[in-house]
Amino acid sequence: MEDFIINTERLGLRRFCREDAEDFAEILTDEVVSYFEPYDTYSREDALKEAEKIAGDERFFAVVLRESNKLIGKVYFEDQKFFGTYEIGYSFNRSFWGKGYALEAARGVIKYGFTELNVRRIIAEADVRNTRSLKLLDRAGMRREGVYIKSASFQKDENGEPIYSDYVTFAILRDEWQERQGV
Ligand SMILES: CC(C)(COP(=O)(O)OP(=O)(O)OC[C@H]1O[C@@H](n2cnc3c(N)ncnc32)[C@H](O)[C@@H]1OP(=O)(O)O)[C@@H](O)C(=O)NCCC(=O)NCCS
Repeated sequence: MEDFIINTERLGLRRFCREDAEDFAEILTDEVVSYFEPYDTYSREDALKEAEKIAGDERFFAVVLRESNKLIGKVYFEDQKFFGTYEIGYSFNRSFWGKGYALEAARGVIKYGFTELNVRRIIAEADVRNTRSLKLLDRAGMRREGVYIKSASFQKDENGEPIYSDYVTFAILRDEWQERQGV
């Protein structure tokens, strides 16, 4: 079996490698997936190049469905260099939404952060319109800490003007997580 950094019930998480290019391109070229992301939808050519760039990058986990070895998602997990705080983010192939895979991966990364990396606090941000992401973060046990009104823009209107949206900030502390695990 492949050597994963994190194993969950159905998934294996590891660093990206060049061989992930085709599966990763399926995610990056989907305009529905990128709608709430801080980047534009990739062309296929740019997506394949991006897979090379991200290979080995320790800020990202490639999420692999163990039964088929298919790469189905990406989890971002980066040290904010601010009092032991990491930020988590994710994007998954649309064909694999609605099966609990993203939640399972996020839970795995949260556990890994608190138990292996000595992380103290994990944060996440989601556009108030991104209901799938908001539900995932609630289900992962993260607390809603605040809503920042019209704080960022990753979309433009028909005149090319930025559309600003509200963002919910979530957080969970290691103590809270441990208490829930009965640690
Ligand atoms: C955000 C995103 C990862 C969420 O994906 P998702 O598949 O909806 O999320 P989950 O893994 O939590 O799956 C939840 C759904 O799976 C269902 N499900 C089916 N089998 C399940 C199982 N075994 N375990 C748990 N849930 C299961 C749940 O009922 C739930 O459905 P519901 O939301 O209709 O109630 C996905 O929409 C995405 O990639 N979006 C684009 C990128 C993006 O916006 N990223 C976030 C930026 S902040």
